[in-house]
Amino acid sequence: MANMEDIFKKVISHAKEYGFVFPSSEIYDGLSAVYDYGQYGSELKKNIREYWWKAMVQYNENIVGIDAAIFMHPTVWKASGHVDAFNDPLIDNKDSKKRYRADVLVEDHIAKIEDKINKEVEKASKRFGDAFNKEQFVTTNTRVLEYKAKIETISKRLYSSLEKNDLADVKKLIEELEIVCPISGSRNWTDVRQFNLMFSTQMGSTAEGADTIYLRPETAQGIFVNFLNVMKTGRMKIPFGIAQTGKAFRNEIVARQFIFRMREFEQMEMQFFVKPGEEMEWYKYWKEERMKWHLSLGIPKEKYRFHDHEKLSHYANAAADIEFEFPFGFKELEGIHSRTDFDLGAHQKFSGKKLQYFDNETNESYVPYVVETSIGLDRTFLAVLSYAYNEEKLEDGSERIVLKIPQVLAPIKVAVMPLVKKDGLSEKAREIIGILKMDYMCQYDEKDAIGRRYRRQDAIGTPYCITIDYDTMQDNTVTIRERDSMKQERIPVEKISEKIRQSLKT
Ligand code: GAP
Repeated sequence: MANMEDIFKKVISHAKEYGFVFPSSEIYDGLSAVYDYGQYGSELKKNIREYWWKAMVQYNENIVGIDAAIFMHPTVWKASGHVDAFNDPLIDNKDSKKRYRADVLVEDHIAKIEDKINKEVEKASKRFGDAFNKEQFVTTNTRVLEYKAKIETISKRLYSSLEKNDLADVKKLIEELEIVCPISGSRNWTDVRQFNLMFSTQMGSTAEGADTIYLRPETAQGIFVNFLNVMKTGRMKIPFGIAQTGKAFRNEIVARQFIFRMREFEQMEMQFFVKPGEEMEWYKYWKEERMKWHLSLGIPKEKYRFHDHEKLSHYANAAADIEFEFPFGFKELEGIHSRTDFDLGAHQKFSGKKLQYFDNETNESYVPYVVETSIGLDRTFLAVLSYAYNEEKLEDGSERIVLKIPQVLAPIKVAVMPLVKKDGLSEKAREIIGILKMDYMCQYDEKDAIGRRYRRQDAIGTPYCITIDYDTMQDNTVTIRERDSMKQERIPVEKISEKIRQSLKT
């Protein structure tokens, strides 16, 4: 695990050093859990967004896209349940004045017990050498079994207290486990309170007349409130979907792990409206479709898994996450939720407007059920980047850092490099870029030895490098080098574009 943590640190510093992700307002020491995307990061992010949009909107006749505003009528959030129930349980340490998520304090305590299990396994594996059977050890060793039982008891108590909203018991649990504040080292805790995650602000020109409005904590509600508009103007027939990508905001208290959990982030969501009773069929369909989308990027399937929810939110009748193996373990990347008619039903009630579909075949109206797919764009970025980051030892003994970003997502598709700056080679390189840039993001690089230029492109994940040399001037051919294999071949200038296009097909 230490090794993975190490890799994660390297990914973060690489992301900064090479213009992918910067801390927000860094010259003022940054803003916690808020990040800016740099020159390559914004390209990668845009490419992920487009890849999603194509798969969801362009390739599906019955899905259309919208772009709703971030600000919405305050009643939207009352109807959706966010004003009353979009909370985290928080606790403050009276000595350090630091605020924590109570459930995370307990989960961190559990993680420490898990560490102890790992240490026992490590010790035993050293002791028994090749004869060590991990599976047998963790199911029979008394100390490990004691730790496991402890974890089970603590988790059960935590989740059942949270479900019952018994915050006094969550505090009692923290006290019984003798959890101390990591900063002050004391056990001087306040009571646990619910804390709403929505950011609010005022809209209106005068303070008295101002309304409290919220920065949307999910993009989904922009889709629900536009259900009627889109259905009517797009002459949509059920089943159909509405998709959108956009910013969402949550006042996350435990904001850590880089861009995994941010206060300002971007979601890519799709609400699929179906006939009541058919939702489970569509839920299964979208679970499979979304997994296929992830796998189409060429990242190995072992890096993904489903996590079916056992405990469901009050509005859902089925829910699953697609988890990805980040450097800090398997974590949620996308959620697929069967949300019943909860949202449309609630908006119908609060707005007094009929949000129904008229079925011509059966001559009846109903509030459609909804199957939602909801994926974090920043989290997908982190998944791609952490998978792509590779340190390689080369045959000649040198090392390289290469980002094996799926080609279709790579920020720069091709770098064009004159071997030397003189004798018309630069001009030829510019001429080739002039053609390629109409289709692809290109970069011109004439500085340093060619090997160093290759390394620079490897570090930002550019799939192809093209070198212009003296032969180019004679026979109009170039050397094209592929990022992952580092193989080089000689091709005519007219074939470059086609070669890149072929490799970008998915
Ligand atoms: N409309 C449903 C919804 O918002 P969610 O599970 O709360 O569901 C969906 O969020 C996805 O949004 C998550 O799977 C995750 O990828 C992303 N996400 C949620 N909170 C995030 C945060 N604080 N920072 C980055 N991404 C986040």
